Amino acid sequence: MNAVLFIHGFPFDHTMWRHQVAALSRWRCIAPDLAGVGASSVAVSPENYSMAAYAEDLIRLLDQSNIDQAVVCGLSMGGYILFELLRRAPERVRVAILCNTKAVADTPEGKRGRDAMVQLAQEKGSRGVADQLIPKVLARATLERQPDVVREVTEMVLRQNPIGIIGALRALRERPDSTPLLGQIEVPVLVVAGNDDQIAPAAEMRAMAQAIPGAEFVVISGAGHLTPLEQPQAVTEAIRTFLLAKVG
Ligand code: MLT
Repeated sequence: MNAVLFIHGFPFDHTMWRHQVAALSRWRCIAPDLAGVGASSVAVSPENYSMAAYAEDLIRLLDQSNIDQAVVCGLSMGGYILFELLRRAPERVRVAILCNTKAVADTPEGKRGRDAMVQLAQEKGSRGVADQLIPKVLARATLERQPDVVREVTEMVLRQNPIGIIGALRALRERPDSTPLLGQIEVPVLVVAGNDDQIAPAAEMRAMAQAIPGAEFVVISGAGHLTPLEQPQAVTEAIRTFLLAKVG
């Protein structure tokens, strides 16, 4: 059975993929929590977080699960980690699905924003981070018309440990530019954008898809940065259609 490894974004956990994991039972779906999140250890000190460390954790998980090669689907930070997997262990990736993500590194202004959020997490914990992020990660339509999704995403951020949040912010701040990788990706790629994503805008994602040989691109309507939770059926169907065509 082909395996699909789902990688969550920041500051979320594996539950952001719950609709897809439930619906895509034709494949062996694995959705772990990254280091510092949920059930995963927070013993790692924030200085030791990096995209490379997250990627190495996932390679270990594939090894332990006896999976040589997987479809890998990452959202936002999960996409940054997928780029890292493609750099250090391309033979482990059969198909890549890039949701609501970007290839570029943080700008100097972006890095200052990470520093400010570290301070916010230190002073106000996950509540301060949730208050700042929720209006940015959800589409206006979701904020207005899907209160259950707003509640679920808010609770997901609130249960995150500030140490894990601070570690992830360090990894985000220091991540490399993945733009040079795009033209070298040799596996089938699906790029999924939300039409109202303020963090990874659909137009930028379209340009990213155009830089990847043969990549397919889909825009999900009525979705911001958290397409799998905001429009679960549309995202599941996009993934299902792509996987049936590429891996069967
Ligand atoms: C995420 O959802 O993982 C974050 O938006 C990533 C980022 O802030 O760059």
